[in-house]
Amino acid sequence: MMQNYKVLVTRKWPSPVEKKLEESFNVTLNKDDVPMSEEQLLEAIDNYDALLPTVTDKISDKIISSKNRKVKIIGNFGVGFNNIDIESAKKNGVIVTNTPEVLTDCTADIAMLLLLGVARRASEGEYHVREKEWKGWRPTHMMGTKITGKTLGLVGMGRIAQAMAFKAHFGFKMNISFYDPYFKDEKIIEKFNAKPMSSLEELLGVSDFVSLHCPSTEETKGLINLSNLAKMKKSSYLINTARGDIVVEEDLVSALENQTIKGAGLDVYEAEPTVNQKLLKFKNVFLLPHLGSATEETREAMGMRVLNNISQFFDGKEPTDRVV
Ligand code: DGY
Repeated sequence: MMQNYKVLVTRKWPSPVEKKLEESFNVTLNKDDVPMSEEQLLEAIDNYDALLPTVTDKISDKIISSKNRKVKIIGNFGVGFNNIDIESAKKNGVIVTNTPEVLTDCTADIAMLLLLGVARRASEGEYHVREKEWKGWRPTHMMGTKITGKTLGLVGMGRIAQAMAFKAHFGFKMNISFYDPYFKDEKIIEKFNAKPMSSLEELLGVSDFVSLHCPSTEETKGLINLSNLAKMKKSSYLINTARGDIVVEEDLVSALENQTIKGAGLDVYEAEPTVNQKLLKFKNVFLLPHLGSATEETREAMGMRVLNNISQFFDGKEPTDRVV
């Protein structure tokens, strides 16, 4: 009987998923959507069978290693799982699942939105109209950068990068280059007529737009630092919908100040929800509050994916999206 399993959801989820969870499990929801403290998470790990956190809940070794731990599965609401200490989960025999695929298109849409927005000065233009500063059409007014025919450089060539490549290549006639030492799928490369680059440095040097699509790992943390920003074209833009800590924000501020690059589109930040205040002064930076997967359809699908994973687990099956 699934109803015997005690399940804790750390944040408010879309109502259809919460309803389904209530029908299936002995679930505790977070209707007020107040983030849980470490202390509350520590208590939860000892008292529930499943913990369903999201990408902003830090599930540390201290929590997972609790000596009275009852939780057997952590069903993360999110494709990224860098909020969870995976080594600790492995060591303690705790299953971890994520929510791949269902958010691919919406996240790539936001990457494309940032690319278009920063190149065509959309946010700046909108403020211009709202602030009643617009004096009318003129040949030199708010000129941006043309997108058609430009080179999009993808850092990482996973699902979201491929969706971005599809939109950019077939929708905007962009040339696709990428750097991903682990990606070898010739069919996909051929489909986008994509150029694999042998180093990040090479990719940065040829791209008009650099879009980040790698996970946050020990290898990628701080990857976009001052020295790598200096390898980008002066006319190029940086787009980040992956994880904030892949970019050293202070270095990005310096690059923007020194006009080492032309602009940036950011959906994720180093210390969310805190945004480096210095970024706010740049008109050539398009900022969004981590909206990659934020559509009704996708957020509901993500929740259902978690529900499916824990149902499979409690049914004695292998969860589809098991990462550990
Ligand atoms: C994820 O799933 O990892 C995103 O950052 C939030 O949807």
